[in-house]
Amino acid sequence: AVSRNYSIATMGADGIGPEVVDAGVQVLKKLQQLDGGFELEFEDYDWSSDTYKKTGKYIPDGGLDKLKKHDAILFGAVGAPDVPDHISLWGLRLAICQPFQQYANVRPTKIFKGTSSPLRNAEHGDLDWVIVRENSEGEYAGQGGRSHRGHPWETATEVSIFTRHSVERIMRFAFETAQKRPRKFLTVVTKSNAQRNGMVLWDEVANEIAKEYEDVKWDKMLVDAMTCRMVLDPKSLDTIVATNLHADILSDLAAALAGSIGIAPTSNLDPTRTYPSMFEPIHGSAFDITGKGVANPVATFWTAAEMLEWLGEGEAAKKMMEAVETVTERGIATKDLGGKAGTKEVTDAVCAELEVVY
Ligand code: NAI
Ligand code: MG
Repeated sequence: AVSRNYSIATMGADGIGPEVVDAGVQVLKKLQQLDGGFELEFEDYDWSSDTYKKTGKYIPDGGLDKLKKHDAILFGAVGAPDVPDHISLWGLRLAICQPFQQYANVRPTKIFKGTSSPLRNAEHGDLDWVIVRENSEGEYAGQGGRSHRGHPWETATEVSIFTRHSVERIMRFAFETAQKRPRKFLTVVTKSNAQRNGMVLWDEVANEIAKEYEDVKWDKMLVDAMTCRMVLDPKSLDTIVATNLHADILSDLAAALAGSIGIAPTSNLDPTRTYPSMFEPIHGSAFDITGKGVANPVATFWTAAEMLEWLGEGEAAKKMMEAVETVTERGIATKDLGGKAGTKEVTDAVCAELEVVY
């Protein structure tokens, strides 16, 4: 009997989400079968914008209690052309991240073999970064309001929240992430020249927490200058920590610099492991290519590998990435990476490569 048994909730949700999650599940099933050391049980949740349009709710009553029982969640993307984006994002993704206290959002970047970066001097081995994004408060805390709708004096506020509790915990998480990597180097990103309250708290907390991690070297950047450094001096970076908004933007830039938004993963982690963590490709529901069979599944494969790593199956995660890189190196890739293959071809190729890796 297998003792390492994990219950995975799958939720493709909208657009290409179900297509890439299906591909991810296919590859995970193959991996588990070849490995034999652990078992994954999948339970699918059909929560999506269709559910919302039918019932007025993304998450049915009692839904989160059911979801809470799983060891991890593999998520696709949420967003539909006929539902405002703020409704879909808050209705499903943030409605899971916030109650489950997934306060650390982790976004690694790299250039896969056989793919190229738009940066002239970057190649495989470069842009090996991890961006740690504060995922529970900041600019996306959900505080604010609107009044005098429709009048010329209509007013809207979007209040950023920075609590010492949350800044300390994300800073510790970031220093620990940096400490586990070979370079042991962290860059703390803020905008503490213009945002003189919350961002100054970030700077102060960084100074304090740094003392707990004396083997980690670190520096500070303002977010605008950081975009220049990512493009002009990418080799000078390793682990990066920033607020919810800043890291959201920087990580899209990172994904594009690494070649495509179709390869980048995200982990929404509850580092206390009280609640399940949620793993998803960084991209959205991509209506422009939905149903065409051309979505790049690589982001979801890397996402699945991050999930396995979090569950303690690091060896299997490594094999998954090895298989994916062999496939990209051979040029079996979707259009966003300059290839001609469809989702199914790439997925089948990764499954076949897993046979070789094991
Ligand atoms: P998007 O990531 O869906 O698409 C941006 C561009 O990248 C499109 O041209 C798309 O075709 C391409 N693309 C994305 N993923 C791809 C993949 N796997 N393979 C090949 N090409 C890919 O971002 P967009 O267009 O801004 O948003 C579309 C919807 O997705 C919106 O409703 C938005 O709110 C939602 N969204 C949801 C996210 C989530 O659930 N975490 C994250 C980002 C956006
Ligand atoms: Mg984003």
